[in-house]
Amino acid sequence: MNEQGFFQLSQDAVSRLAEKYGTPLLVLSLEQIEKNYDLLRTHIPQMKIHYAMKANPDLRILETMMNKGANFDVASDGEIRTLSNLGVSGDRMIYANPIKTEAGLRACVDAGVYRMTFDSESEINKIARWIPNATVLLRLRIDNPSAHVDLNKKFGCPRDRAIGLMLKAKAAGLHMAGIAFHVGSQVTTADPYLHAMDIVRELEEEAKAVGLELPVLDIGGGFPIPETGVHYNLTALLDQIEARLSEDFSDKEIWSEPGRYMAGTAQNLITKVIGVNERNGQTWYFLDDGIYGTFSGVIFDQWDFKLISFKEGKKIPATFAGPSCDSLDIMFRGKMTEPLDVDDLLLVPVCGAYTSASATTFNGFRKARMVIWEEVREELGLEPEQLSLAV
Ligand SMILES: Cc1ncc(COP(=O)(O)O)c(C=O)c1O
Repeated sequence: MNEQGFFQLSQDAVSRLAEKYGTPLLVLSLEQIEKNYDLLRTHIPQMKIHYAMKANPDLRILETMMNKGANFDVASDGEIRTLSNLGVSGDRMIYANPIKTEAGLRACVDAGVYRMTFDSESEINKIARWIPNATVLLRLRIDNPSAHVDLNKKFGCPRDRAIGLMLKAKAAGLHMAGIAFHVGSQVTTADPYLHAMDIVRELEEEAKAVGLELPVLDIGGGFPIPETGVHYNLTALLDQIEARLSEDFSDKEIWSEPGRYMAGTAQNLITKVIGVNERNGQTWYFLDDGIYGTFSGVIFDQWDFKLISFKEGKKIPATFAGPSCDSLDIMFRGKMTEPLDVDDLLLVPVCGAYTSASATTFNGFRKARMVIWEEVREELGLEPEQLSLAV
């Protein structure tokens, strides 16, 4: 059984929230964040979770994760300082950006972050200069063209250079602790993780032969969230990973860096149709949120969002555009929808990851306001059942 739930507002909640707070409006469920964390902990209990806050750095998510006892994957000085200001100690962070800035390394010194990844010789020298006692993991390249976002195009040391680089890190005085990989984002079967673990196992044998003990394995992020037309079984995927970890890596400390999985299912967007047009025989709908706002994930994350109109009628293909004066601000072409009118509300579920995180205020449009579901539902007298939990 796939136990993964996601947060989805009812039609009544959508219209009452839009009336009270206006649109575009993001509604975030912190209970869903907690459920996501708990599910991962239940299925892979031996894994130390580092929330990849790049997916959604909202402070209330960070606080929720902090209170749950989570650790964090950080990629910049800004992320390190945000967490420090919240009271997260440096030993709960891993600087998992294989290429670090001077400002990032300075923030590590200030915040006491000493765990980090690298995939090049130049990075070893930098780390050794700034944090001579750092605990480092080699980020290994694991090609996975089937991933929704293949992060290995940009990062990761090829397998044949791995031992040499690890020896160099050790010689530079760093604590060479293990291997990290990221199989790519939105991965819907366990196979890429299992394949990566095969390679790690071989490398660990080779490392042992040259005197390198590697007590840590970091399996990165990539865990999936519901997506239109994509079928997977999250719990089966997690259980397969867990079984392999128990079988072959029971002597290791296991770390992970989930981002999308942790935040994606916890947020809904309510957006409104602000204009309708017919252009070259195509129906166009203009929304009050667009590519420069929450739908930035269309470009940066190549994500196809689901739009729920709560209307009836024969579906038609339509173009959906955002509110700005820029012609790039078009989210979907030929997207099937019930016919819409100005002032109709659209609900966009499962939009918590790589959306508001990369939104801008381009052209003077404010970013969508955010409210917390568990606070506003009581205020509006909405029933908790309106939190949908079944996939
Ligand atoms: C190093 C690293 N870890 C974790 C993540 C989070 O990945 P995901 O959102 O697929 O879980 C990313 C995403 O870019 C990443 O670069």
